[in-house]
Amino acid sequence: SGYITLDPGFKNTGSTESAITFLDGEKGILRYRGYPIEQLAEHSNFIEVAYLLINGKLPNRHELDQFQGTINRHSLVHENMKLMLQAFPAHAHPMGVLSSLMASLSTFYPESQNPHRAPEMVNLTIIRLLSKMPTLAAMAHRNSSGAPIMYPKNSLGYLENFLYMMFGMPTEEFSIDPVIVDALDKLLILHADHEQNCSTSTVRIVGSSQANLYSSISAGVSALWGPLHGGANQAVIEMLENIKADGGNIEKWIDKAKDKDDSFRLMGFGHRVYKNFDPRAKIIKKAADDVLNKLGINDPVLEIAKKLEEIALQDEYFVQRNLYPNVDFYSGIIYRALGIPTEMFTVMFALGRLPGWIAQWKEMTERKEPIGRPRQVYIGENVRDYVHMADR
Ligand code: CMC
Repeated sequence: SGYITLDPGFKNTGSTESAITFLDGEKGILRYRGYPIEQLAEHSNFIEVAYLLINGKLPNRHELDQFQGTINRHSLVHENMKLMLQAFPAHAHPMGVLSSLMASLSTFYPESQNPHRAPEMVNLTIIRLLSKMPTLAAMAHRNSSGAPIMYPKNSLGYLENFLYMMFGMPTEEFSIDPVIVDALDKLLILHADHEQNCSTSTVRIVGSSQANLYSSISAGVSALWGPLHGGANQAVIEMLENIKADGGNIEKWIDKAKDKDDSFRLMGFGHRVYKNFDPRAKIIKKAADDVLNKLGINDPVLEIAKKLEEIALQDEYFVQRNLYPNVDFYSGIIYRALGIPTEMFTVMFALGRLPGWIAQWKEMTERKEPIGRPRQVYIGENVRDYVHMADR
């Protein structure tokens, strides 16, 4: 009924008004709640940015301490989750494990399933999500590598605790390199929100049916996994490794990306909204140099990445289509330098994006948005009569 506008991929369709993230793709501007991403990456930390996104303002000292303290106290997960973890096959991809475990949280907190939630209940769910996701992410990694699960240590900061659960050993002292914490802080801040991207729209649309927040976030994790979205960070490193193994023949791979009969794309290149540059990529490229320098790491893959960028940016194909390195192009090189295994890269993205998903879900519910339900234009068969089996 009525006239339906078709817009596959929602390239020109706004789904909401939002007060969280401002993005200007032509000018390469990104701001959370009005604050430029460059300033937040330089001066803030991830927990403060999480507070900012979710609550709309920077916390004062007391508010931040309280936020951080509450998050620390909820970091344990139910012991039975370890049994679930054991049921996954060896080498299970941690994104598959993470989305499953995140959805299962809703069964441990059944009150989250009640759509008529009191605000305190919503706040507790938000805290539990922020608190337990690093625990579950680290568990997914430990399980796939056969290492014992490390319980969270609540005296540690958010990222220190995550690193401890990822890399600590029950029999050894664990020391944390501040260079690594700083780098992670920066990376997670840069990933914390990006307005109505695929995973965020997924969280909002799942949440719009009044499904519980744990399940909505789990859906976001699944959407993020795809190589055209957050999965690109793993795909970039795999691509760079392939180029290296192939003798560093960058031109050949660029030709492959340009070939319309070949489904291969230059991973970490191009963006739906950024048409001049991705401001996150700019910061991350510099951070990659800094971190590798500070840690004294010489990664030949960084050289290949820089060369690839240089050649692509001079190539007519990429110039004409406004294809620039995106957030995922250099992030994997930093994660690798920090000792994070390749298959955990997209999990890192999910950890970073969690506050954004939560803030967007909260905005959607507070605005009492209607259930998300796009229309279509039917192009199938016209009416026809059922044919009995014997007559087919
Ligand atoms: N390599 C080669 N060609 C490309 C690439 C690429 N990476 N990206 C876009 N193109 C071409 C595409 O083939 C099309 O060409 P033509 O006009 O001749 O058909 C043109 O550029 C426009 O691309 P599109 O697919 O219509 O653009 P889109 O807005 O639908 O897709 C994108 C955006 C990010 C999915 C796409 O650029 C892509 O697949 N990039 C590689 C994957 C990637 O790095 N994803 C991470 C995105 S940033 C972080 C995030 O979202 O999580």
